[in-house]
Amino acid sequence: MAPRIVKIAAVGTCVPERIVTNDELSLALDTSDEWIRARSGIRERRIAAADQATSDLGAGAAVRALSAAGVVPSQLDIIIVASLSPDMIFPPTASFISGAIGADGAAAFDLSAACTGFVYALSAGSAYVASGQADRVLVVGADVVSKMLDWEDRSTAVLFGDGAGAVLLEHAVEDEEGIIGFDLGNDPGGADLLSLPAGGSRLPASSETIAGRRHFIQMNGREVYKFAARIIVSSARKVLADHGLGIEDVDLFVPHQANIRIIESAAKKLGIPPERVFTNLERYGNTSCASIPICLDEAASAGKLQHGDLVLMVGFGAGLSWGSCLVRW
Ligand code: ACO
Repeated sequence: MAPRIVKIAAVGTCVPERIVTNDELSLALDTSDEWIRARSGIRERRIAAADQATSDLGAGAAVRALSAAGVVPSQLDIIIVASLSPDMIFPPTASFISGAIGADGAAAFDLSAACTGFVYALSAGSAYVASGQADRVLVVGADVVSKMLDWEDRSTAVLFGDGAGAVLLEHAVEDEEGIIGFDLGNDPGGADLLSLPAGGSRLPASSETIAGRRHFIQMNGREVYKFAARIIVSSARKVLADHGLGIEDVDLFVPHQANIRIIESAAKKLGIPPERVFTNLERYGNTSCASIPICLDEAASAGKLQHGDLVLMVGFGAGLSWGSCLVRW
C-alpha cells in the first residue's frame, strides 16, 4: 500500500491561569525585567498550580483539539505524549491523558526527546497514519517545566513556562494539504549541556542528590544557544532542500520558542522576513514540548495560517536534538 498523506486535522491548547511576570520573579531572584527581556525576549510565563500536573494540561489541550475536529476520544487509535516533565517516570503520561479524556483502549505512550519531543512525536504519529497502522493519532506536547526548575538558579528559572498543545493526525483526502516531511537528528556529544541529572537509573534519588540540587534542570546556556542558532538554520535548509522547496516558499516559520535572539538570528540567516516568523515567547517563555503546538493554535486563531500555506516548524533541545517538519496547512 502506498503511504497515505497525513494532515493535521485540528489543534488545541491549554495553559495554566496563573501569569508570572519578570517583575514578580525579580522579587525572589537576583534578576530584572530588563535583563530577562533583553537576553531572552520573555515578559511573562504561565505557571501551573501546585496540584496541576503535565497530564492535566495535556488533557485540556487534547479535549480542545478533539472538539475542534468533531472527533470523540473513542475514535483515537494512539495517543503519543512528548514531555520532559512527565507526571511520573511510569506509567506514561499518555495513559493519564487517555483516562482523563475517556480514550480507553487507544494505545498510549510517551516519547522523550526534550524540547524537540513534539516534532519527533509528530513524525512518529504521522508514520503510523501514513502506513495505515492507525487512522487517528493524537500527538500531545505538554510540559510543567516549572516543577523541574531550580527556583534558586536565575540562569534557568526565568526562561521556562508551563503549557500544552495537542494535534490530531488523520489521513488527508485532498492532495494539497498534509505533512510533507521531516529532518530529525541528535548530537550525543552535547548530552551534558542540558539535563536533569538525578531521579533516573544513573543517579537514583538519595539524600545526596537532593542536597546537591540534582533533581532540577541544569543547562550550559551559552553552548545551547550556539547549538540552537546553528541547527535551526541547517535543519530548516535540509528539510526544504529534501523536498525541492526554498525559503521563499515558506508562508509561516514556527520555531521552538526558547529565546527571541536565537529565533531572530536564525530567521535572518535563513532570509525569512519577520512577518513570516511566528513568536509568542514573550507571553509564555519556553514551554518545551508545548511551544510549537501552542504557536500553531495561536497562528491559526489569529488568521495567520490559511489553508494551503507552507509551514516550517523547527524544534531543538536536550540530547542535543533537533527536528524540522514541513506541512501544507
Ligand atoms: N538575571 C540577571 N543576570 C543573569 C541571569 C538572570 N536571570 N542569568 C544569568 N545572568 C548573568 C550571568 O551570571 C552572567 O553574569 P557574568 O557575566 O557576571 O558571569 C551574565 O548574566 C551573562 O550570562 P550569559 O549566560 O552569558 O548570558 P547570555 O547572553 O548567554 O544569555 C541565556 C543567557 C538567556 C540562558 C542564553 O544563553 C540562552 O538563551 N541560551 C539558550 C537556552 C535554551 O535555548 N534552552 C532551551 C533549550 S530547549 C530544551 O530542551 C529544554
